[in-house]
Amino acid sequence: MGRFDGKRVVLGVTGSISCFKAAQLCSTLVQTGADVDVILTAAAREFLTPLTFQSLTRRPVYTSLYDVLPDLSSAHVALGAQADVLLICPASATTLARLAHGSAEDMLSCTALASKAPLVIAPAMNVNMWEHPATRANVALLRERGAIQVGPVVGHLAEGISAMGRLAPLEDVLAATRLALGRRPAWEGRRVVVTAGGTQEPLDPVRYIGNRSSGKMGYAIAEAARDRGARVSLIAGPTALPHPWGVEVRLAPTAREMLDAVLAACDGADALIMAAAVADYRPAGVAEHKIKKTGVGLELRLVQNPDIVATVHATYGDRLVKVGFAAESQDVLAEAGRKLDAKGLHLICANDVTEPGSGFGTDTNRVTLIGRNGWREDLPVMAKEAVADRILDRVEQLFS
Ligand code: C5P
Repeated sequence: MGRFDGKRVVLGVTGSISCFKAAQLCSTLVQTGADVDVILTAAAREFLTPLTFQSLTRRPVYTSLYDVLPDLSSAHVALGAQADVLLICPASATTLARLAHGSAEDMLSCTALASKAPLVIAPAMNVNMWEHPATRANVALLRERGAIQVGPVVGHLAEGISAMGRLAPLEDVLAATRLALGRRPAWEGRRVVVTAGGTQEPLDPVRYIGNRSSGKMGYAIAEAARDRGARVSLIAGPTALPHPWGVEVRLAPTAREMLDAVLAACDGADALIMAAAVADYRPAGVAEHKIKKTGVGLELRLVQNPDIVATVHATYGDRLVKVGFAAESQDVLAEAGRKLDAKGLHLICANDVTEPGSGFGTDTNRVTLIGRNGWREDLPVMAKEAVADRILDRVEQLFS
């Protein structure tokens, strides 16, 4: 199951040299379940042929305002009305100008004008064109009307220099499209704090005590909350995962650094979702120099770390929804229920880390959601993205 299952995406491709990347984007959208209708502007046709996109989508590709559908209705009106999202990637300066001013002189700008679907723009152009007051004003106008802008970024441009104007990475364009499709009124204006990954507790300048958390569950929750339209602060221990687009990421390597970051971020927040595997103990002291081998054993003295979510509960009470995780290897449900009460949580996601397809490092998880007053939901083994959605469905209920 892809993220775009059954979604109708109108992909507008304009004549920026980066339009060769739109073919890859189109292929990814199709592979993740979207029905993609492609519109090429006249300038894009100078770079690419309709056949490229026709082959990728197995659907007609639109290039002219005077294309007619089999039923002879106007193609631009039909495409605009059916679309779940209108994604323009890359968006040239001139297409942005047409869109901003409602000038419907080609198939793409006409479809945009005839559509009520959310608009995603991924601008890409020369740095001077991007910085021109006309382009700035056009983009500001489109954003004011609700368009989601992704990029451009600083990087290599076709002119051979590195500057602002490069098309955003395709993962970011896909993330912005997910947001356009996923926004829900219940999450508008909400601020959500998510923690992810495992903490690392230093022993000396080169060693630490850590755990096997990959961060995947927390990152999936952060992205799913962003898709619903929340402002998301992701506070993460060290992970190998790329920063998700549209999420504010702060790194907190140790439990105590994570505590400080979480406490500050929770002020005024609507929800805290603690998916991080926080080390319960840390070395009593950090050696100034690398600990040497002595030929005999080494005893470490550990002290307990503060409990982050319990501290948030003591500080903010029930002013925000608090969700925790209980990764257990025995008495899973009883342990999770005990932690729900002890930490003042509204919801705990219990999982048995000894089960296959569950817990650390995997792409799937099998959790039981446990709430206050005996509320409980057993979920099957699911992709972590799907688990994230089920957790947020429950958080959404708790908001109301
Ligand atoms: O007690 P235990 O570590 O099993 O509890 C797990 C839950 O509590 C997780 O949500 C975890 O993020 C959170 N936790 C915390 N502070 C700690 C340890 C765990 O907030 N020091």
